[in-house]
Amino acid sequence: MWSNYPAIKEEMAAFEQYLDKKLTSRNSFLKNASREVVLSGGKRLRPAFAIIAALHGDYDRNRIFPAAASVEVLHAATLVHDDIIDNAKIRRGQLTISEKHNTNLAVYTGDYLLTKSLRLLLETGLKPDKLGILARSISLLCEGEVEQYLGKYSVISVYQYLKRILSKTGVLFSAAMILGAKTANLTDDAARRFGQFGMCFGAAFQIRDDLKDLLSEEKTEGKPVLNDLKEGIVTLPVIMAVKNNPEILKEVNDYFNGIGDIYNLMSSILTSDGVRDSEKLKNRYIEKCRKIIKELPQTPYTGALSEIVEWL
Ligand code: IPE
Ligand code: IPE
Ligand code: MG
Ligand code: MG
Repeated sequence: MWSNYPAIKEEMAAFEQYLDKKLTSRNSFLKNASREVVLSGGKRLRPAFAIIAALHGDYDRNRIFPAAASVEVLHAATLVHDDIIDNAKIRRGQLTISEKHNTNLAVYTGDYLLTKSLRLLLETGLKPDKLGILARSISLLCEGEVEQYLGKYSVISVYQYLKRILSKTGVLFSAAMILGAKTANLTDDAARRFGQFGMCFGAAFQIRDDLKDLLSEEKTEGKPVLNDLKEGIVTLPVIMAVKNNPEILKEVNDYFNGIGDIYNLMSSILTSDGVRDSEKLKNRYIEKCRKIIKELPQTPYTGALSEIVEWL
């Protein structure tokens, strides 16, 4: 990643060292567990977005690295808790904290990472009103996750799905970009546009992730597949598949009631238009991203956002 952008590549490498240095604790369990989670090969998309936004203004590692780390550590915290809730045993090809240790320790690890994220945020030197950006994101993220949890085993509408993914995934990408923009003294207008980009990227990214849950393999993803349906979480390809298709809707409900086999259900979904229609909606968010990129202040780094959008 970033091979066409050596300056970004260099910043990401320096950021990795910064992150490593920051992950310490007096408690050896929390130190080891948080290092295992954060330093286990995530794609670092959110910090990269924060850094790219900051490269559009007065770039200062002393301000942007804590902001980028804060967002990445918050992301790690949400993954630790998400894996407990989703009953996931592997992440990034390794055992999850709840599987390796136990659920209680995973709850503490997630909490610890959350507070670490807030402490890193304090190191950015941002004013308290700007710090609220991350606090609001955490609230929205929790709301999205709780809505998903309470809505388990029910076939929701496309509108409800979009609301949910914008809140559980879009918001953090958006916060990453806004924080990046703010640490580099960009105008409110530019920060707002970067934030909109993050939201639209996050939506397309979550649709992509939900498609992969159906289409990909555990080996390539490093995390369980078909897990959403197994956990009763109805994602876009399923919503699109049952639209005007009462037979598949019955198959989904039967499966949730313990009747029928997941592989039969999967093949019904895959032979419907569910995947194609989900790709179409994902492409609408990609199109929005492309449009927002044109409205951003243009620098030698703006193209990196286009590249990552085309990767989606
Ligand atoms: C996983 O996010 C959670 C989702 C929002 C789908 P990433 O795919 O960015 O996770 P890592 O950090 O690269 O593993
Ligand atoms: C994203 O949803 C989780 C959060 C935003 C916390 P998923 O549950 O689909 O993410 P994965 O697939 O476990 O990475
Ligand atoms: Mg999950
Ligand atoms: Mg997923």
